[in-house]
Amino acid sequence: MKRLSVAHSLSLSALLLSALGFTLLAGCRSEIPVMFEENLVHAKKWEIQDDLQLDQVIEDTQWALAELFGTPDNPKLPDAILEDEELAGLISTEHLLAASGPDTIAGRGLYRQHCARCHGITGNGRGETAALVEPYPRDFRAGIFKFKSTARNDKPLKSDIVRLIKHGIAGSSMVPEYQLPDGQVGPLPDDQIEALVDYVIYLSMRGEVERAMFDEAAMNLFLDEGERIINPSLANSQDPEEVELFEEQWGYFVDTVVDVADSWLLDESDAIEIEIPDDMPIPATHQELTEMLAGDDGDTLRASIERGRELFVGTIASCSKCHGNEGRGDGQEADYDDWTKDWTIRAGLKPEDEASLIPLIARGALPPRTIKPRNFEEGVFRGGDRPEDLYHRLNQGIAGTPMPAVTLVPGQFEEQDIWHLINFVRSLKKEQTPVVDKPLVTRDDLTEAAD
Ligand code: HEC
Ligand code: HEC
Repeated sequence: MKRLSVAHSLSLSALLLSALGFTLLAGCRSEIPVMFEENLVHAKKWEIQDDLQLDQVIEDTQWALAELFGTPDNPKLPDAILEDEELAGLISTEHLLAASGPDTIAGRGLYRQHCARCHGITGNGRGETAALVEPYPRDFRAGIFKFKSTARNDKPLKSDIVRLIKHGIAGSSMVPEYQLPDGQVGPLPDDQIEALVDYVIYLSMRGEVERAMFDEAAMNLFLDEGERIINPSLANSQDPEEVELFEEQWGYFVDTVVDVADSWLLDESDAIEIEIPDDMPIPATHQELTEMLAGDDGDTLRASIERGRELFVGTIASCSKCHGNEGRGDGQEADYDDWTKDWTIRAGLKPEDEASLIPLIARGALPPRTIKPRNFEEGVFRGGDRPEDLYHRLNQGIAGTPMPAVTLVPGQFEEQDIWHLINFVRSLKKEQTPVVDKPLVTRDDLTEAAD
């Protein structure tokens, strides 16, 4: 049995390597025009789940998406966005140009220079180095974002994404050091970050529209009878009925674009409000916590941490169920994130059953990895370690992951208990513990791999 599973993972890594080789080849883009990749995994998932054939849908959708969003070198925004009073302000055309295109042209190519090797040209989380890093880079096409100040099911604010690019995502390979034009390495200038944020939104919208079209086709069209999501050749037909059908199909794309774009129309008023209590000590860093424990607030802080510990292992908050009694992240280690569940469990496949996943991995899915609850001894918080960052993580949970939002219970688990939990979690950091969550590869490895 042992032998068998070794053989399986070998064949799997061989497959992955060949897929990577393919990407690297496609990366030598001197002559081949750079294209957005189709979401073949999402299509294949439907084919496996409902025994459908989506080849035509993939082709038709790709045509419509190019009409609406352009190409990686010549991106554009759908008219429905440009002509809408509110949506027109969402993404600036200037930003779109600066972020897109080849990085060999002055004033362009920010995304390809700084982000694509991890997130992929298409924003599918599948750049050349993606398979080498843990966690995998984000696939923007699902429209799900983890670290934000908004509600769990909402999009992030632009300012949330700005923060992540500026500060990096601690404990992941996404660091804030970028190669700057003057030869230095450091955080990107603000105007470039803003351009990249718009571009992330653009890629995410395009990807969400694509997914929505495959879903619509799989669920509501008679594909086996030749029904199409959109048929470009009808546009210029002599038959008014065919032209009308085309307009109906096109209208569905446009409506979907507008729905997806609408979900990004957020401003600061959509952020979850936080009132940091002033009647209890809330250290902002582990250092400050150590100092406070030794000072006048020591006893109050110790009591707060103790209250946090009770809740953490208690049945109401039940944090220990996943994070373990000591908060070492060893309570529930066999779960997966939503990006993985989407093409495995939701298609009726088991992430552990590698053989059944091969058709999907061959189409671009990265081999499933379990998601580990945070080990607090490392003292690393990906979404930021300010008290308000941790409040957002607890108050709304972490979208796309098993980490739930807290449920308050009057008299037993109240608003202020969230702050006790934050103090407790922060207190667990062990100075000596090496950060095992750190990227599997260094930045130098990545730069080499990208070359
Ligand atoms: C070295 C690889 C790497 C590079 C380069 C990189 N990222 Fe990331 N990025 C990641 C990883 C890994 C994650 C996922 C972290 C996680 O899930 O906890 C991520 C997540 C994100 C997220 C999602 C955050 C959320 O709240 O869910 C955004 C947005 C993002 N990156 C944008 C960018 C942009 C823009 C650039 C270029 C300026 C960039 N990244 C460069 C690896 C990278
Ligand atoms: C069902 C499992 C589960 C439960 C219950 C759970 N967590 Fe988590 N938690 C996770 C996972 C998984 C992650 C890692 C998510 C990621 O990769 O971003 C996480 C991450 C975190 C983080 C890290 C945030 C960051 O920015 O890095 C904090 C803090 C946290 N949990 C606190 C708690 C607290 C406090 C409770 C109880 C109120 C709790 N968790 C309950 C699964 C859980």
